[in-house]
Amino acid sequence: MIYTKHVFICTNQRMPGAARSSCGEAHGLALVSEFKRLLKEKKLNVNMRAQKTGCLDICDFGPTVVVYPEAVWYVNVQLNDVAEIVESHLQNNIPVDRLLLKHKRDAKQNAD
Ligand code: FES
Repeated sequence: MIYTKHVFICTNQRMPGAARSSCGEAHGLALVSEFKRLLKEKKLNVNMRAQKTGCLDICDFGPTVVVYPEAVWYVNVQLNDVAEIVESHLQNNIPVDRLLLKHKRDAKQNAD
């Protein structure tokens, strides 16, 4: 099966007290559930899939979500952002600009 949209949500869980934060600690699994729920509710789950994944290596900006085939990276995704990602990006091919990784990277580079 080749999905028209494939959503990977980081659910990596580090030990309590680890030096780096992890998306699993910050509601990564809840994000997976919400994406799956909305895809099913909107009957998009026939040709779109959301699933958990391991660390995507941008932990400081998590919870992290990436959508293929476009390779659009979202950061600091909250539960109430999921509906917007589904409607705007998955259904209408318009990425949610305010959640894009590029904004965090630009801000970090400007601060360094
Ligand atoms: S723990 Fe999610 S990107 Fe590393």
